[in-house]
Amino acid sequence: MSAPPLERLPRHLAIIMDGNGRWAEQRGLPRHQGHAAGAKAVNRTVTACRELGIEVLTLYAFSEQNWARPEDEVEALMQLLHDYVHDERFEILDNGIRLTTIGDVDRLPAWVRRPLQALCDESAGNRGMVLALALSYGGREEVVHSVRRLAAEVAAGRLDPAAIDEAAIARGLYTAQWPDPDLVLRTSGEARLSNFLLWQSAYAELYFTDVAWPDFQREHLEEALRHYAHRERRFGKTGAQIRDEEAPC
Ligand code: IPE
Ligand code: IPE
Ligand code: MG
Repeated sequence: MSAPPLERLPRHLAIIMDGNGRWAEQRGLPRHQGHAAGAKAVNRTVTACRELGIEVLTLYAFSEQNWARPEDEVEALMQLLHDYVHDERFEILDNGIRLTTIGDVDRLPAWVRRPLQALCDESAGNRGMVLALALSYGGREEVVHSVRRLAAEVAAGRLDPAAIDEAAIARGLYTAQWPDPDLVLRTSGEARLSNFLLWQSAYAELYFTDVAWPDFQREHLEEALRHYAHRERRFGKTGAQIRDEEAPC
């Protein structure tokens, strides 16, 4: 297919990378092999998004709730994250990617957190695509965190409660510097958000595919982007209003 016209690309694409475990189980493999295959899909997707010109790519890699999984599975996921940082260092630095994280990364074990933080720091001055890994991330937890900070400001007498608006809450979110996700994509047939970017996705387009994350290829990404390019985002207005606004003067 031809690439979607650039002006219709999402600026911020957020992906819920789901289905690794079932992919492995269907093949009689241990779940961690599904995660390993999923890591390859991460590499393909990062490259494709960078080449297409996505500004911000947020990947849901590990939720706050995923800590409740069996210990050996959590361990395997941490090892894969560690290896990703090690193996993709040059891919990230050579291509101007700015690696960052969202979530409670202090919960990650130090042997993962340190090299991850080092690569985030090293790539902080890059001006290409932002690659945000959602790690130990929960959307509700994120909103609570922002509100708690505002409450502390109020308690200290520095903030008038009447001044708390949407922008004040958004400023306390991990994503404060970026546009809200335009498109949230989830693989493996599940049609739910699972605590991902709840506040930020208020007007995101949602796209669900049955393809399991380890099988996710560039063609599937392009298919999703093609769907996105044809959607009319109305933000509460009428279609006629939107078409008027978009019409050349
Ligand atoms: C997504 O795949 C990866 C993580 C949540 C870490 P899953 O591990 O959730 O795969 P399924 O949904 O069990 O198939
Ligand atoms: C969401 O997937 C989290 C990630 C993809 C990292 P889950 O597999 O954990 O979500 P549920 O439990 O099916 O809702
Ligand atoms: Mg899952």
